[in-house]
Amino acid sequence: MSNYNDRDLTFAAERAMHRAYAPYSKFKVGAALLCADGTVFTGCNIENASFGLTVCAERAAIFSAISFGYTEFVKIAIVGGPDGKIESICPPCGACRQVMTEFCGADFEIILWDGKSLSPLQRYRLEDLIPMGFGL
Ligand code: THU
Repeated sequence: MSNYNDRDLTFAAERAMHRAYAPYSKFKVGAALLCADGTVFTGCNIENASFGLTVCAERAAIFSAISFGYTEFVKIAIVGGPDGKIESICPPCGACRQVMTEFCGADFEIILWDGKSLSPLQRYRLEDLIPMGFGL
C-alpha cells in the first residue's frame, strides 16, 4: 500500500499547483490522485487562449492515471489559489466531479486544504459532492 498520508498527498498537490499553466485566470490549481496500489498521479490546470479548452488539475491527474493503465482510485487532494497562493479551499468544479463519477466509487475521498491548519484537512465523499451523478 501507500506511504502517502493525506498531508503528503496535499503537499504533492501543492507542488503540482506550481506547475500550472494559468496565464489567463492566474488561478493555479494542483491535484494529487492516490491509486489503490499507492501510486500517485498529479495534475495541474492547463489553460488555453481559447478559454474553453482549459483542462482542470483534477482531470489532468485522472486522465494521466488512466492513460498509464491505472483504474482503481482511493482519494484526491486538491489545492489552488490566485497566483498559487492557497488562501481558501478549492472545491472541484462540476465537470471534474462528473469525471470522478466515471472512474471513482461513492466512497472516493476528496481532500481539501485551506492553506492554514493541516489538521484537520477537509474530507468529503464523492457521492456527497455529486449526488446522482450521471452514468450509463
Ligand atoms: N480549475 C481547476 O483546475 N479545477 C477546478 O476544479 C476548478 C477550476 C482551474 C480552471 C482554470 O484554469 C482556473 O482554475 C480558473 O477557473
